Amino acid sequence: MPGFLSFVRDQYATLELPRPSTNISDATYIVTGANTGLGYECAKHLFQMGAGRIIIAVRSRAKGEAALATIRRETGRQSVGEVWDLDLSSLDSVEEFSKRIQQLDRLDALIENAGVAMGKFQTLEGMEMSLYINVLSTMLLALRALPKLQESAHKFGIRPNLVIVSSNTALDDNIRLSADQIDGDVFDTLSTAKVFDVMTQYPRSKLLEIYAVRQLASLFPVSESGVTINAVNPGMCYSELDRNGNFRLRLLMAIMRALLARSTEKGSRNLVQAAFAGSDSHGSYFSECRAKNEDLPTWITDKDGKRVQEHIWADLLKRLESTGHGVDIASLRAKK
Ligand SMILES: NC(=O)c1ccc[n+]([C@@H]2O[C@H](COP(=O)([O-])OP(=O)(O)OC[C@H]3O[C@@H](n4cnc5c(N)ncnc54)[C@H](OP(=O)(O)O)[C@@H]3O)[C@@H](O)[C@H]2O)c1
Repeated sequence: MPGFLSFVRDQYATLELPRPSTNISDATYIVTGANTGLGYECAKHLFQMGAGRIIIAVRSRAKGEAALATIRRETGRQSVGEVWDLDLSSLDSVEEFSKRIQQLDRLDALIENAGVAMGKFQTLEGMEMSLYINVLSTMLLALRALPKLQESAHKFGIRPNLVIVSSNTALDDNIRLSADQIDGDVFDTLSTAKVFDVMTQYPRSKLLEIYAVRQLASLFPVSESGVTINAVNPGMCYSELDRNGNFRLRLLMAIMRALLARSTEKGSRNLVQAAFAGSDSHGSYFSECRAKNEDLPTWITDKDGKRVQEHIWADLLKRLESTGHGVDIASLRAKK
């Protein structure tokens, strides 16, 4: 992981919005967790950039409608935007949402931003909550959306993007997972009250996301799928992310934010950049509005890291299968 001084410098980096090379008035974008924070700001940018169809995916319809009304008022685009229900704490909800995605004419980018940082140990179907929401559900949605993204690429001759919002906290050497540490199922290993630590669980969930994105990108090269897949770090921002946190986490976040945080508007520019990233960035870690793979520690990218990545991926697919939400990667790859 880049050192503390690099982190401080990065927090003050100039963050630019992309200038799409094509007219996006026909394009469709989905942003999850768009009722607040980074997702809200990302959706608002898409409104301001002139995107044709913008879907705000939320777990609370009331919050989603309120966010949409504010964005419409602030951007003056009264007839644009829609709110779709998505609760990542339910794989059935992910499936329902995915069925709606398949009915879209086209999908130019899915920005998977929704996520949680848990302040206490809680499980869902035997899996620790932040792993369930940030990794299992998030990756199920990615896999279910891929056919529509691939179809859009081939039907409209476009280069759609799949963006998973991760975090630079995932790159900390202290949360490293080595192959021998995760001998068994990684989700079981990280889903015990004994292992749960409020300071490491969230970064670990974000680390698993990075591994999963890298594996997904390697299974679906752009040359075949037409879809550019990236993980993105928005940087440390003022938001409600620590709302479930305990006193220790909230205090630490309050101090760090007071000194270094950027606004969610600034941070969200990273999400927008990744949503328009060119295919040469496929499989990258985005940060400071560019593909910044040099920030990834070698323990993620080396041979041992690759083994961990494959292990995590296998456990993810196994878990989806055992919960009745299996994914057939081979037939997904064959779909164009
Ligand atoms: N803020 C930072 O410093 C920072 C840094 C690095 C990465 N990130 C990442 O950026 C993303 C957005 O975070 P944020 O800072 O904007 O946090 P936030 O203000 O707490 O927003 C999180 C969003 O996720 C939604 N969400 C939470 N659980 C959900 C569920 N079960 N189903 C559907 N939606 C759910 C929330 O909906 P409700 O409002 O209904 O709860 C909210 O819309 C997260 O993935 C986070 O890990 C943030």
